[in-house]
Amino acid sequence: MTEQASPDGLAEQLRAARQWAGITQEQLAGLSTVSVRAIRDLEQGRVRHPRRETLRLLAGAMRLSDARRAALELAVEGAEAGTVMREAYGAELAPPPQPLRRLVGRTEELRSLTSLLATEHERLLSVVGLAGVGKTRLAQEAALMLHGRDRTPVVWVDMTGTAPQPAGPAGTRSPRSALTGWARSLALGGRGLDELASVIRGRATLLVLDGHDTGPHLTPPLLELLHVCERLKVLITTREPHRTPGNRMLPLGPLPVPAPEPPEFPGGAAAPGASLTAGQPAVELMLSYVGHMRPDLMPGDSLVRTVARISRALDGVPRAMEAAASWLLLRSPAELLRIAHSTPLDVVDDVTGDAGGDGGGEGLAALLVAAVARLDDGPAALLGDLSLLPDGWSADEAAAGLSATPASVVRDVHALMLRGLVRRLPGEEDGAPRFGVLNLVRRLAAERAASLVPATALVSS
Ligand SMILES: Nc1ncnc2c1ncn2[C@@H]1O[C@H](COP(=O)(O)OP(=O)(O)OP(=O)(O)O)[C@@H](O)[C@H]1O
Ligand SMILES: [Mg+2]
Repeated sequence: MTEQASPDGLAEQLRAARQWAGITQEQLAGLSTVSVRAIRDLEQGRVRHPRRETLRLLAGAMRLSDARRAALELAVEGAEAGTVMREAYGAELAPPPQPLRRLVGRTEELRSLTSLLATEHERLLSVVGLAGVGKTRLAQEAALMLHGRDRTPVVWVDMTGTAPQPAGPAGTRSPRSALTGWARSLALGGRGLDELASVIRGRATLLVLDGHDTGPHLTPPLLELLHVCERLKVLITTREPHRTPGNRMLPLGPLPVPAPEPPEFPGGAAAPGASLTAGQPAVELMLSYVGHMRPDLMPGDSLVRTVARISRALDGVPRAMEAAASWLLLRSPAELLRIAHSTPLDVVDDVTGDAGGDGGGEGLAALLVAAVARLDDGPAALLGDLSLLPDGWSADEAAAGLSATPASVVRDVHALMLRGLVRRLPGEEDGAPRFGVLNLVRRLAAERAASLVPATALVSS
């Protein structure tokens, strides 16, 4: 427990860091080539503005983390925790990043997330789901609402590997980036607890760890921060569930897609296009992508029907639909639909070859392959079996068809749903929820399951 230490000033921070490193002033002098006298002056607060080089030598000798180096620099500049606090909690209240486009659909999910964030006892929430399904976008909207409505400061930390890292010790660093640097370090199991705790203290704050995909457990320092700062809430977005007590997981499925056209409309000819967009966020979003990419295409019934079927073939996954729309520069809507049905992974990455998404990282096809590859053998085998069933099975039907116990099927379906590989379908007329395997992963699931057979045969022989 360190919250009482509050090492705000340079002298206190240097002393605490040296003690943390477990060395004496003399040893530090030997390691850093800074004189013992200079170190003593600094630790006793007689010198408050050392040269940057002196600080660099001391930090290097004590092997300080980025966050601690930043804290030292901030302390020298007089911009220590107090300034960070003013910036984060002052009149301007730190806002979350502004989204570039309007949120489509997600009314229920947003309501549920914001009401959980508004309650006192829910302090650790994870939005979990498939790559590109819209976790970041939803978290952004929820954070904006909290910020606007409740005036809650938001510390938004991009945890993805592509996030720009905080400036090095010699670079300049704003209080805000120091804050996110500490939070990133802490979430990865490094230092930053003292610094963050001294800034946040008892203030209502929302810390968002966006793209915190390193599972399966959250680090003890992060949990300690929640313990120390009793009005802090942590919202995580992740592709892999974090199994940590007290962490409430909110599985986020793709946008709802329209049901297949009934057989009495062969080819869907009689179904008016408007009925396919009304209340269908996936179609609405896909149409907006198509309109952006191909403004020359007239959004008549025929196009709307094709777009609706494409969005269904791509399971209503926003990132997949956005990338697929880019293929309309080379393909007709009908061609795109054919590919989306048969080999959807061929169009889930941008036609330009960019990895897509918000600024690089891995392509979606590769991420889907990885999501299926990461599954344990049990759920992987089940996913293979389920991918052969037509959409709309219930857990009991699946168990009967697979000669498995309903309990084991339910458990594995839950694991698959958390990762977004299986979705719940709308409508529970007979009381039993209905499910379907995502079209995007059907083939991958079958291939993975097939690769398991020899191993199973080996065990049973
Ligand atoms: N409901 C929505 N309305 C409009 N655009 C959306 C919606 N959901 C997602 N998008 C857009 O789709 C893209 C992918 O969404 P997002 O980045 O939120 O996915 P993610 O689940 O966080 O993916 P990852 O696991 O890769 O981080 C983004 O460009 C995002 O703005
Ligand atoms: Mg994300």
